[in-house]
Amino acid sequence: MMIKTVKTVEFKDKRVIMRVDFNVPMKDGVVQDDTRIAAAIPTIKYIIAHGAKTLTLMSHLGDPAKDAEKAKAKAEKDGKTFDYDKYIKGKHRMAPVAAHLQKKLGKAAVVVFAGEDGCFGKKAFIDSQKPGTVIMLENTRFHKEETAKDAKDLDKLAKSLAEYGDIFVNDAFGTAHRDQASTASIAKFVPVSVAGLLMEKEVNYLEPVVTNPVKPLVAIIGGAKVSSKIAVLESLLKNASALVIGGGMAFTFLKAQGKKIGKSLVEDDQIDTAKKILEAAKKCGAEIVLPVDHVCADKFDAASKPVAVASVNISDKLMGMDVGPKTLAKYKEVISKAKTIVWNGPVGVFEYDAFAKGTGEVAKLVAEATSRGVITIVGGGDSVAAVNKFGLASKMSHVSTGGGASLELLEGKKLPGIEVTRGREYFIAGNWKMHKTRAESAELAKALVKSLKGGKHKYLAAPSFTSIETVGAILKGSNILLGAQNCSTDEQGAHTGEVSVLQLKDLGVDVIILGHSERRHVYKEDDALINKKMKLALAHGFEVILCVGETLDEREKGKAEAICKRQTEKGLEGISAADLAKVTIAYEPVWAIGTGKTATPDDAQAIHKFIRGLIAKLYGAEAARMIVIQYGGSVKAENAAQLMAMEDIDGALVGGASLKAETFTPIAKFS
Ligand code: 13P
Repeated sequence: MMIKTVKTVEFKDKRVIMRVDFNVPMKDGVVQDDTRIAAAIPTIKYIIAHGAKTLTLMSHLGDPAKDAEKAKAKAEKDGKTFDYDKYIKGKHRMAPVAAHLQKKLGKAAVVVFAGEDGCFGKKAFIDSQKPGTVIMLENTRFHKEETAKDAKDLDKLAKSLAEYGDIFVNDAFGTAHRDQASTASIAKFVPVSVAGLLMEKEVNYLEPVVTNPVKPLVAIIGGAKVSSKIAVLESLLKNASALVIGGGMAFTFLKAQGKKIGKSLVEDDQIDTAKKILEAAKKCGAEIVLPVDHVCADKFDAASKPVAVASVNISDKLMGMDVGPKTLAKYKEVISKAKTIVWNGPVGVFEYDAFAKGTGEVAKLVAEATSRGVITIVGGGDSVAAVNKFGLASKMSHVSTGGGASLELLEGKKLPGIEVTRGREYFIAGNWKMHKTRAESAELAKALVKSLKGGKHKYLAAPSFTSIETVGAILKGSNILLGAQNCSTDEQGAHTGEVSVLQLKDLGVDVIILGHSERRHVYKEDDALINKKMKLALAHGFEVILCVGETLDEREKGKAEAICKRQTEKGLEGISAADLAKVTIAYEPVWAIGTGKTATPDDAQAIHKFIRGLIAKLYGAEAARMIVIQYGGSVKAENAAQLMAMEDIDGALVGGASLKAETFTPIAKFS
């Protein structure tokens, strides 16, 4: 599911609460490195420029309680006095960060600091600010609830932070792997949650590395410890053509291969893991590139004299500190074949100049690859520090602002701060009703496979029963699901003229449309019968589209909501929350179907919102946020984008206009 970004919402006159990662290094109340503040500026400017009433920023800054405890212990050990207030003021108070932000924003916006007495009860203060003001809240970690383990505690702070905004924006990629009050829980209490521009950029670069990289993918993974990189190695193996393993962790792999590593860094308890990864790479057909020569030292010290070791084996008196020239030549060859490069962790002790050459060369090779059009991504604190040291950060496609967050994303994990910004997927379905011979269906299916290729949404084609097999064969391997327009209430038996779920399964059907208005009104299906079919279809693993909607008479009598309520509630009776995840609801006002009369976007939105509210009551807020609600009834190319722009309209169930590729494609590819 795609993340929703600031570009998809209307900010005019809205109050916005945004999580940023202003966890910057501080000394005596002065910001030491403002990279993270600078990274949030585009989103701040975007929101202000789009007319937000207020923009309230929240961030953590260090960890006041833990940091103070450590500093106090150190002071005691050194025989010094410890002044808690002074220490906290110099390192954890947000006021100097707010002042720094004001300098960076200049005339673009006025920044005010909300005060040192925490984040609670600031609503009146925020609401009294002039339009367009940026408000910085005090460090969120002064509240113990921010990092609480218990959801109730998290929710307590989240709820009070949610009072500052109609819209929650998360731009704090560096903290996205934390499931905390201001990074994730808050999303439960605001109507809309979206990602900021920095978050969008991070996700757009990092996520495809795991899900769908431009291949060949070469991963360069370094750093000291295998143990901290196992998950990322395993995850990248699935797509990488080559895995370059460097840095201290390489020696554990070399030892696993029976090589001599001298006094080099090694994790003996990870030798078996290293063997397993080497084995897995063989199976995946990924080449593992380990050092074949080294630059060594007799001890781990900046002043140690570098000793070139031309072979892979290292004598007992030496330790590997950097890679040698033969290894670098190999790197060059491997990197030259890549279309995507992801780099996490240095290949040598680059902090010491005498052993920085290997990491510097890697930075240069990756930078050169960028200029050839290769997608290059650098993540993780140390490799970012390395590209900065060599002045090559601007020569990479993307340098991540997140250490732990970028690593976890590359491990294929779901990050709480990102998940809350995911939007529902648009789902565009064609209901071909009782039209078309097999040959005609085949022709349409073939045209759709071509025209919807690369389309961004979820698609469905639901032909007549007689054409399902033909169409299914054509849709196989495409991005279009196969649908059926109905099913029987029973698995099999004496049901003349009916079609069973078992038969539909046999044909490879993915989705069944149930309760369509033509079934309800022409074939007199009632709620109980539809509910029985729903349960049967879901039990057999199908996705279901449940259609609801009022007649013209019912609408004119003001009964639209009551009808939709009854049909939704009865249709879903006895259906579990887990099964609801496979249900799409289609609001199809009967008076709009096949009549050329479309509900206005506002009218449709009102009912969609009402239905979502019903789901919230039945299954809770999260289920309501996620359920897809399609609109159906004379959807055409001309009105599709307008309808789909409405907050609660997540797709379309199309009849007439789905019968030709020329009329369905523009709906399916609306923008
Ligand atoms: P039309 O798009 O032809 O109005 O049909 C809507 C419909 O009933 C889809 O199931």
